[in-house]
Amino acid sequence: GGLFGTGGRFSGQVDPIMEKFNESINFDKRMWSQDLRGSIAYAKATQKVGILTEEERDTIVAGLEKVMEEWAAGTFELKAGDEDIHTANERRLTEIIGPLGGKLHTGRSRNDQVATDTRLWIVEAERDILKDIATLLGASAEFAREHIDVLMAGYTHLQPAQPIRFAHWLMSHMAAIQRDAQRLTELIPRANQCPLGSGALAGNAFGVDREFLAKELGFEGVTSNSLDSVCDRDFVAEFLMWHSLFLVHLSQMAEDLIINNMLKCVDMADAYATGSSLMPQKKNPDALELLRGKAGVAIGRSVGLMATLKGLPRAYNKDLQEDKVPLFDAVDTVKDCLAIATGVIVTMKPNPKMLLKALCPEMLATDLADYLVRKGVPFRETHHISGACVRLAEEKEISIDTLTLQQLQEIDSRFEEDVLKVWNYEESVERKSSIGGTAKARVLEQIDQCVAFAQKL
Ligand code: ARG
Repeated sequence: GGLFGTGGRFSGQVDPIMEKFNESINFDKRMWSQDLRGSIAYAKATQKVGILTEEERDTIVAGLEKVMEEWAAGTFELKAGDEDIHTANERRLTEIIGPLGGKLHTGRSRNDQVATDTRLWIVEAERDILKDIATLLGASAEFAREHIDVLMAGYTHLQPAQPIRFAHWLMSHMAAIQRDAQRLTELIPRANQCPLGSGALAGNAFGVDREFLAKELGFEGVTSNSLDSVCDRDFVAEFLMWHSLFLVHLSQMAEDLIINNMLKCVDMADAYATGSSLMPQKKNPDALELLRGKAGVAIGRSVGLMATLKGLPRAYNKDLQEDKVPLFDAVDTVKDCLAIATGVIVTMKPNPKMLLKALCPEMLATDLADYLVRKGVPFRETHHISGACVRLAEEKEISIDTLTLQQLQEIDSRFEEDVLKVWNYEESVERKSSIGGTAKARVLEQIDQCVAFAQKL
C-alpha cells in the first residue's frame, strides 16, 4: 500500500479510504499504451542529454516494451498501491529491470505525463470517431438514395406543413452531422500538441529536447508554456462540448423517428426494438429513445467538467484527475450511439403507403397560393385567398382538393381550370428546385456531396 510519491517525507499510514479515493488506476489504465509510448520517447530524450547511457536507455526501452506486451496480452497484474497508470507501469518496469527503472522519471512529473497520455489518447479517439461518422454518413446517404422517390409530410411546430422527400428529411440530419465531423476535425490540431518536458510545472531541468519528444510521439508540435501544459484541459472540454452537440443532433433524429414510428410511417427493425413484459402487442423503439436520452447525460458531462475547471489556480491540481471518467464515458457513448444509429437507419423500413397517408391536401395550401402568384397576384393577397379556401373546406368538412372550380372561383375569380393540377404532391415537391430544396435532383446532389464528404474523412 502507500501512496506513490509519499516516500521519504511521509511517515504515517494512509487511510485505506484515502487510497481508494485517490486512485485513478481503475479508469486511467485505459491509457496504458499511450503511457508506455510516452515513457519510451522520454527514455530516448533523457539519453540524448546524458542522463542515461545508451545501454541504460536500451534496457529501459526493452523493459517498457515488455510491459507493453503484458498489457496487450492481458497479463499485466495490478498490485495494491498501483495508484494510477503511471505508477503501475513504473512499478512493473522496475520489477523487470531492477533499480535502473528509477532513472526513467528524471525531470519528469506525472503532471506532464498525464497531460501527454490524455492528449495522445484523445487524438486517437477523435480520429476513430471520425471513421465511425464516415460510416454513418455513407450508409445514410445510400439509404436516402435507395428511397429517393418516397414522399412524406414535412412539419413545423409538429403541424403538417409541406410535402417533402423522405430522403430530404434524412439528409437534413446528415447535414448537421457533417458539420459535427468538420468541428471534430478542427479539434485535433489543438489537442495534438506535446506537453511532455514541462516537468511538474516549471519546465524540464535537464534540457530535454521537446521537439524530439513531440516528433517521436507523432504530435504536430509542442505546447508553449509549462504551467499551462500541465493544467490545460481545454482539449477535453472542447471534446465534451463537441460530443454534447453531436449527441443533441442524434437525439433530434431519434425524436423524428420515434414520431414516424408512432405514425407507422417508418418501421424499426426488431433488432433495435424491445417488447413489453406485460403487453404482448408492444414493439417499443428503445434504441431511439436511448439515442434521444444519451444527449442529456452528455450535456451534463460537458457542464460538469467546466465546473471542475472554473476555480482552479495555476498549475496542476488533483481536481484535474476528474476529467478522465467523463472523457472515457463520452467516447464510449459516442461510439455506441454511432453504431446504433447506423444500424437503426440501414435496417428501418419507410412505409410509403403510411407516409403518403400522413400527407393531406391542406399541405398544398401554399401551392394554391403560389398558383395565383404565378398569375401575377401579390403573395400577401394569395395567402389570404388560399386561407379562405382552407376555411371553406373546413366548414364543409371536406378535403380542400375536393372544392369544385366553381367554389374556388366564388372565392377568387382568377382561379382557372388548371388550378385542379395543384393537388399533386410530387409536383409540389419538384417545384422546390433551388439549391437545398426537396426536388429530386437537389436531394441527389446532397447525397452525392455527402458520400464524397464521408470518403474524405
Ligand atoms: N492520476 C493523476 C491524474 O490523472 C496523475 C497526476 C498526478 N500528479 C500528482 N502530482 N498527484 O491527474
